[in-house]
Amino acid sequence: MVRGMKSPPRMKTDLLITGIGQLVTAEGAEARRGRRMRELRVVRDAALAVAAGRVQWVGRAGQWTPAYGSPVMEVDLGGAAVVPGLIDPHTHAVWAGDRLADFEARSAAAGYEEILRAGGGIRTTVRSTSAASPEELARLATPRIERLLSSGAVTIEVKSGYGGSTAAELAALEAIERLQAEQRAQHGARLLATLLVHLPPSARSAASFAPNQSHSQARQQFLARVCGELIPAAARRSLASAVDVFVEKEAWSVEEAERIFATARSFGLAVKLHSDQFHSLGGVALAARSGALSVDHLEAAGEEEIRVLGQSSTVATILPGVSLHLGLPPAPGRRLIDAGAAVAVGTDLNPGSSPLFSAAAALGLAVRMNGLTLAEALAAGTVNAACALGFNDRGRIEPGCLADFLVLHSRDWRDLLYVMGANPVAEVWIGGRRRKRRPEKREEATERGKEKPQQTETR
Ligand code: NIG
Ligand code: FE
Repeated sequence: MVRGMKSPPRMKTDLLITGIGQLVTAEGAEARRGRRMRELRVVRDAALAVAAGRVQWVGRAGQWTPAYGSPVMEVDLGGAAVVPGLIDPHTHAVWAGDRLADFEARSAAAGYEEILRAGGGIRTTVRSTSAASPEELARLATPRIERLLSSGAVTIEVKSGYGGSTAAELAALEAIERLQAEQRAQHGARLLATLLVHLPPSARSAASFAPNQSHSQARQQFLARVCGELIPAAARRSLASAVDVFVEKEAWSVEEAERIFATARSFGLAVKLHSDQFHSLGGVALAARSGALSVDHLEAAGEEEIRVLGQSSTVATILPGVSLHLGLPPAPGRRLIDAGAAVAVGTDLNPGSSPLFSAAAALGLAVRMNGLTLAEALAAGTVNAACALGFNDRGRIEPGCLADFLVLHSRDWRDLLYVMGANPVAEVWIGGRRRKRRPEKREEATERGKEKPQQTETR
């Protein structure tokens, strides 16, 4: 499933961007694999022409000819570097409540999986998210999306997954639908919804929703509802374009994921996987043989998984924010690329494993933690991330692509990956329009006010 590409618009130029000190982009519609991830086009003293929201022409400024009459508007960037708008292919931006108590407990040596087994972690977020309305969820997610946008992400995948029941999962997808419309109207930003089948019921919650059944029967019943109610409803209402499953010891097995995939595909939805985060259980092989768009995480991937992804069209999406926040071994980004894989990078923005609000920072972390070169990181956050979402019309500055690009504070594109703790992105252009800067909204303090008392000890 590849969507989006058009031919370069043959019509009056709406916008001519000049004074581009350096324009850097990957080229070609397919995912970059292996050493091809390092091949970037670097144009010095560049210009970029836009018509109807798409790139019309790009090259050396001196070579531009007004083939379709003088441009309606001209903007001189005074020597700044320009790169494609980033794509964040993996976020869980819709949640309520917070996980500060988990963070504090982990700082005192509790483990992420241990907290989850005890009914906390993701399950804490499921409790608070399932109690919120779609309106409230969309309101809470707005400043998170806007921070990602400021960091350069112009297409953002947003997953549900903290609902825990058919109704609550659909409510999360409705929140994403609202966000999609609002962000498109206000900033031109493009959001893509994925239905995440995150966790099976815990023994405790199984006892409450199916009192006369064993835990394993309750799990089967939950799965039957996912396949019989949730996926069909999400597909019928066009609330998601893909289904994602979390394969892990504390989550779903490969066999269960396979059943979910079969249902998703029967409704025309793409499939993808959270896999090999803590344990390697066969999810990578499942993703590859199912033609999944991507398989994400891979911190625990070994030789065999690397070999499989080196030969598969499934994109290997790595999430360095998780390794940083949870202290997990970084996913083997370097070895995946050396094996010929197409690697993408995402923030995995979520409250529990990756509170990372910057797509640019995720790429900088992939360089420092996963062994990517600078050029590979740019390809991973642009063209390959677009392919991980099934798009071939973005993540590159080439004729026919969406005119989504970033103007950096620097004259050198490498600052995008180098800068830490400050935003290297000066301007975000989407569909040939500069995103208006407005003061960042505060995250809602009241949300936290509702939480249980803090654990912090005061002495
Ligand atoms: O991508 N691994 C599973 N799911 C999410 C984490 C969700 C959470 O901790 O809230 C992830 O890491
Ligand atoms: Fe995730």
